[in-house]
Amino acid sequence: MSVIIQADGLCRNFGGLQAVDSVSFSVNEGEIFGLIGPNGAGKTTLFNLITGLTPVSSGSFSYQGRAITGLPPHRIAGQGIARTFQNIRLFKGLSVLENVRISQHACTRTGLFSGILGLPASRREEREVEEKAWEILKLIGLSGRAAELAGNLAYGDQRRLEIGRALALQPKVLLLDEPAAGMNAAEKQSLTGFIREVRELFHVTMLLIEHHVPLVMGLCDRILVLHFGSMIALGDPAAVQQDQAVIEAYLGAE
Ligand SMILES: Nc1ncnc2c1ncn2[C@@H]1O[C@H](COP(=O)(O)OP(=O)(O)OP(=O)(O)O)[C@@H](O)[C@H]1O
Ligand SMILES: [Mg+2]
Repeated sequence: MSVIIQADGLCRNFGGLQAVDSVSFSVNEGEIFGLIGPNGAGKTTLFNLITGLTPVSSGSFSYQGRAITGLPPHRIAGQGIARTFQNIRLFKGLSVLENVRISQHACTRTGLFSGILGLPASRREEREVEEKAWEILKLIGLSGRAAELAGNLAYGDQRRLEIGRALALQPKVLLLDEPAAGMNAAEKQSLTGFIREVRELFHVTMLLIEHHVPLVMGLCDRILVLHFGSMIALGDPAAVQQDQAVIEAYLGAE
C-alpha cells in the first residue's frame, strides 16, 4: 500500500483561533478516508490547506512523495487533487454538459489555440474529451439531461454534477466536502454506491467530509476525527465509533 497524501503537523490559525492544530496523517492510495467532527472542527479548513486555497500557518504536506505545501491552488489541482465544495459551486447558467466540459479544458494537452485553429491533433483530442464527458454524465446519471441548465437541477443532482465536474479534471485524489448535504434520504442512500463506483471506475483516492453517520461508517476505510482543530481519533470506523473522546466530543456538541 503506498501513501499518496502525507500531512505533517498542519496548523492554521485565524487570529487567535486555532482552526487546524498539529494535524498529521497519511492517506493510502485507493483509500476512502473520512474526516468527521462537530461543526467548526476545522474539516473544511483542512481541505482548504490541502488544495492550497488557504496557506498553512505551519506544517507541511506532500503528494506522491513530493512536497506541495505553498503551491497555488491551480498547480495543486494540476497535479491531480480535485475537490467539491460544501456550498455547491457550479456555473448555474451553463448546461450540465458545459459544466463538465469547462473542467476538461483545464487539462487538455493541445490547448486553446490549436483548438481555435481546428488542428487535427486538437480535433482528435476533442473527440476523446467529448466521449469522456458523456462517460462522466452517464456515471452521475445525468446523460439524459445534458442540455439542461445546471441551475435548474434538483439539489441532489447538482451535488452529483459537482462531483462529475471534479472528475473531469482526471484527479488521482478527490476531496468531497459534505456531498450528502441537502440530499433527501433516498439520494443519501444511493450516494454510498455512487462513491464506490467512482473509486472503481476512476481509480481515485478519496477524502470525505460528511456528517451523515451511516454514509461515513459504511464507506470509509479509516476515519480521522477533529475537534476544535485537533485530532482526537484516527482508525477504522468501528474503533472510532467506540472511542471515548469521540463520543464525548459529539455529546458535548449536542
Ligand atoms: N477564513 C476564515 N477566517 C476566520 N475564521 C475562519 C475562516 N475559515 C474558518 N474559520 C473558523 O475556523 C473554524 C473551523 O472552520 P471550518 O469551516 O474548517 O469547520 P468545519 O469543521 O468545516 O465545520 P462545518 O461542519 O460547520 O462545515 C471555525 O471556527 C471557523 O469559524
Ligand atoms: Mg465545513
